[in-house]
Amino acid sequence: MDIWRERMPEFSGPIVEAKYARMNAQAFNDAQRDSFAEAERMALRFSLADRVLISTPMWNFSIPYKLKQWFDIIVQPGLTFTFDPSQGYLPLLNDRPTLVILASGSDFATGMNRGRIDMATPYLREILRFVGIRNVRFVPIGPTTGPQQPIVAARERSEQRLAAMAMSF
Ligand SMILES: Cc1cc2nc3c(=O)[nH]c(=O)nc-3n(C[C@H](O)[C@H](O)[C@H](O)COP(=O)(O)O)c2cc1C
Repeated sequence: MDIWRERMPEFSGPIVEAKYARMNAQAFNDAQRDSFAEAERMALRFSLADRVLISTPMWNFSIPYKLKQWFDIIVQPGLTFTFDPSQGYLPLLNDRPTLVILASGSDFATGMNRGRIDMATPYLREILRFVGIRNVRFVPIGPTTGPQQPIVAARERSEQRLAAMAMSF
């Protein structure tokens, strides 16, 4: 799925109301039902994937807003998670092999660069865990900007790791 090209509903108005209606066990009106149906379609497509590959750049230490929008749409009560007063939040998706390739202008392989923290990796780990996906591996690629030699070395390192992983993915 190319999240930059495919139409995704703006997360405002009826889809927000639908989320709260669902959390409060209230019935949908027509607009809420239509917008929630889009979320259902997107969540279903995700749930049917045998394997997941997320290829994303780091933007301002986190993920691009389009990827966040996609999570905001599919992370819905009754679709990808549920809440039980005695057990708390429970994921609804089956686990599956998942790989995240995270490109960054700087080298964030240690989780930090010059005092700046990579918040994309922990965010993705947590949101995927929240919906049931724990079998996640991360391959950072960085630096992708600046002097040529470190860029080439980072790319080669990541490609080698990916080639090794491809055997068992
Ligand atoms: C809006 C924006 C924000 C960015 N923020 C960061 C950042 O916080 N840290 C970083 O190392 N690189 C940052 N970059 C650089 C990209 O992560 C880097 O160029 C990456 O390789 C882009 O991936 P792509 O070529 O697949 O689009 C940013 C780039 C853009 C356009």
